[in-house]
Amino acid sequence: MVREILVWPHPVLKQKAQPVTVVDDSIRALIKDLFDSMYAADGVGLAAPQIGVLKNVIVLDTTPRQPESKPLAMVNPQLLSLEGTVDYREGCLSVPGEAEDVERAAIVTVRYLDEQGVEQTLRCDGLLAIAVQHETDHLSGTMFVDHISTLKRELIRKRMKKLQAAQEAERKEAAAAAKKARSGGRSEAR
Ligand code: NI
Repeated sequence: MVREILVWPHPVLKQKAQPVTVVDDSIRALIKDLFDSMYAADGVGLAAPQIGVLKNVIVLDTTPRQPESKPLAMVNPQLLSLEGTVDYREGCLSVPGEAEDVERAAIVTVRYLDEQGVEQTLRCDGLLAIAVQHETDHLSGTMFVDHISTLKRELIRKRMKKLQAAQEAERKEAAAAAKKARSGGRSEAR
C-alpha cells in the first residue's frame, strides 16, 4: 500500500527509530509499504520514519543508476565501515523539490537483517553507498538538510512551510467539496 510520506520539518522525522526484535509478517508488510511508497514517489530509498513508523527499516533501489545492484530491504542496518569521501547532490522524498551537495563516505560496509531475518553484510559504492548513509541517517532522526549550512537549511524550511500550507489548504478544500457532494446527494435522495 502506498503511504503518505511525511514532509520535513515534521516532528516524527526528528525522532530516533527503534530496533526491530523479530523480522515477522508485520515487518514484511512494512517493507512492502515502503517499496510501494518509494516507487510511487520515484525515489531510490525510503526509511520507515518517513511514513510515520519509528522502526529501524529502510528500503533501497538504485538499479536505474546501478544495473548490477538490486532492490534491498534492510532491517536494523548498521554501518560497519566508511571509506573515502565524496560530494553528492542529494534529495529526499521528505524534502520535495530540493537538492544540495552533501559530503559522504564513498564506500560503506553495512550489516543488516534481510526480509527473512538473515544477517547480511554488504560493501557498496556509488549511489547505493550514498543512499545507505542517507537512509540510515533517517533512523537516527537526521535529515540531509542537517548536513548543509544553516542558511541553506532555513531557506528550505521556509519553502517546505509554504508547501505544507498549500497542501493543507488543498486538503481542506477537497474535504469541503466532498462534504458538499455528500449533503447534495442526500437532499436529492429525499
Ligand atoms: Ni530522505
